[in-house]
This record gives sequence, C-alpha cells and structure tokens, in this order.
Amino acid sequence: MGKNGIEPVQVTESSWWLAALDPNLRIFDVIMRTESGTTYNSYLIRGSKKTAIIDTVKEPFKDLFWKNLCSLVDPEEVDYVVVNHNESDHSGALPLVFDKLPNAKLIVSAAGKSFLTNILNRETDPIIATDGMEIDLGGKTLKFVITPFLHWPDTMCTYVPEKRLLYSCDIFASHYCDDRIFNDLTNDFARPFHYYFNVIMRPYKEYVLRALKKLDKFDIEMICPSHGPILREDALSYIERYRQWSQPEEKKKKLMLVAYTTAYGNTAKLAKAFGRGVQEAGVRVAMMDIGNLSEMELSSVVDVAESADGIAIGTPTINGDAPEPVWKFLASTATIKRKGKLGFAFGSYGWSGEGPISIIRHMKSLRMRTPYEPFRIKFRPTEDDFAQIKELGRTLAAGL
Ligand code: FEO
Repeated sequence: MGKNGIEPVQVTESSWWLAALDPNLRIFDVIMRTESGTTYNSYLIRGSKKTAIIDTVKEPFKDLFWKNLCSLVDPEEVDYVVVNHNESDHSGALPLVFDKLPNAKLIVSAAGKSFLTNILNRETDPIIATDGMEIDLGGKTLKFVITPFLHWPDTMCTYVPEKRLLYSCDIFASHYCDDRIFNDLTNDFARPFHYYFNVIMRPYKEYVLRALKKLDKFDIEMICPSHGPILREDALSYIERYRQWSQPEEKKKKLMLVAYTTAYGNTAKLAKAFGRGVQEAGVRVAMMDIGNLSEMELSSVVDVAESADGIAIGTPTINGDAPEPVWKFLASTATIKRKGKLGFAFGSYGWSGEGPISIIRHMKSLRMRTPYEPFRIKFRPTEDDFAQIKELGRTLAAGL
C-alpha cells in the first residue's frame, strides 16, 4: 500500500474504485472512533458516450486523487461529477478537481445545491437530480435515488441498472481500511459496519426504512459505498442488516431514564425519590449512575436512552456548571433521536446551582419537551423536598 492510497482498482468492466486510504485515522467527525482507519471511495464510470465520476475524496488526498483520475481518463473526457453527498470527506477535493475538468457538469440533489455553492464558493448551475431521473452514459445509465437524511439532507444514491450496481454513498459504509477492497477478500468488518450504522444512521431510522422501500424496487447485486469495502458478495445481506437495525422498538410500557451523578450523595437521593414517583405512575424506570462509566457502559446507557420516552438528569453543580460526566453522557446521545423526548433536570448544590439549569437549557436546544423548570435544592434534601420531587416524578411520568 502506498502512503495514502493505491492505484485505481477495476470494479466492473466499466467502473473503477478511485479512493484514498486513511489507515491511521483514529477519530472521524469528532465523535466516531475509527480503530481500523477508513477509506474515501470515489468511482469512475465509463459509458460508450459519456464518463462520470461519483464523489471525490477528503481534501488532503486531492493530489493523489487527481493523479489516479488522470491515469484512467483524460480530464477533458469527464462529462459529469455526481455529488451523492456534500460532506467534506467526499467533497474536499471537489474545488480542485472541478476546476480542472473543463467539460464536467455537476449533478446534485435539490437539497445539496446550496451546499455545493458554499463548497465551491460560486454558483455552478448543476443538474438537479430527482428521484428516478436517468442520465445515459451510453450502455450505462445513472439512475438517481434521493435518500434524504442518510445522513445529511442532501444524500442520494446512484444506481446503474445495467450492472445492478448501487453507489450508495454513506449508506452501507464502514470506517474500515483494507486495501483488498472487496468484501470477499478483506478481513471481517462486521463490527465497524454495525458501529457505523449505530453512530451515523441510528438517529435516522425512519429515513433508513423509507430509503430501503425505494431500494427494494431495484435489483442490486453489488454495493459501492463511500467508505470501506465494496460489497460484491452477498450485498443483500447488508441491506437486510440495515432493515433489521432500523425496525421501530416494540412498544412496551413507557420508560423513563433517570441518569444521575452525585458529589456527596444528595443528588443520588433525589434521583431515587424521583424514580419512585415515576414507578408509582406505572411507568418503567431505569436508574443509571453516570458518574464514572467506561466507553462500553456509556454506550449501554445510550441504548437505554434511545428506547426511553423521557430522560431525567440529576446533576450537582461544580464551578457554575454540570460536571463532565453529565456532558459526556449528553454528547454521547448525539447518535440517537432526542427530539420530542421528555426532558427534566434536578440536583443538589452548595452555592449557586447552575448545573440543572444548564442541562434543561441544553435539552431545549435539542428540542426535547421540557415542561418543568429544574428542581434544585441546597445541600441536604428535606422530607418536603423528597415529597416534591417524588410528586414531580409521578406527574412527569403520567404525561409521557
Ligand atoms: Fe462520509 Fe457523511 O460523509
């Protein structure tokens, strides 16, 4: 393997994988651990009349990308650049590449047009792809499938019916770097594939199911995603995994997660009283001390948060704010849908008590429902405080 990539690899008789390898990447998009690095996959498709490329690569790899592209095609012969997705890991090289392709027309979804303007810093008059729209390359057709929120508003896929091949963008991708490229040749990447779904697609499960409904109409033999291995063996099994992971939870009894941390035990006591109130209202309660969690434990709490109808957070106040474990937990919930869940915060404090106030403010910014002001008490809760917070637990649970 070269430093940042390898030579282009032929995928079919008319298409090539044109990618950059980033084996040493350990964090992607700030929130994802990428223990196996990643790849930024672009593809070249040649028809008898026209040539297209699908996406580009991250900016630091632009020179390598350009070299590889030029090894396959005269830049004057590229007719289309399909922008399945505008995020910088796929569009970073686009300003350089597009400037050097004198005859290329951009193709983007309607939602992606303004992103494109801001990436190229100029208007470009792209072709706007719509669902089912086709572009004939001569013996190969590009058929567009608009798949919004997987995971950006602009996301779309491109299908080539003649090859039964889907260029799926971030859908069915993995942060997994293996220069053998094809899933029947690489090592096992089931874990990174699932982790990618959990972190990137999980908040958009309804959109996954909508996209699968559209994709079910296509005969798909091979999937070329924008990161990680090309899925040429048993491609449908990856689609089925997405379908299974996106099923709505079976609705059991309502659930309230009470996630708390405590400095001297007082906030923990409030949490327990609140939880008793929730139970008395006939709602299931999950009590979780989030004070000192490993990554794995934190991820289990996030799983509970995903299925919970309400999240109550108990926090002390340290130097005018909620302490780090509370913010870490909240940051970890970025991988689930929080909008619409009921939110509440409470805590014991010594001087000023801003912790629960900051948390409720944050919950509001996440568009959680926060019908009550935070419940805050100074130092040790009294019997009256316990009775009040228990009653709040009962009332909030009844409103779930
Ligand atoms: Fe791989 Fe959303 O970019």
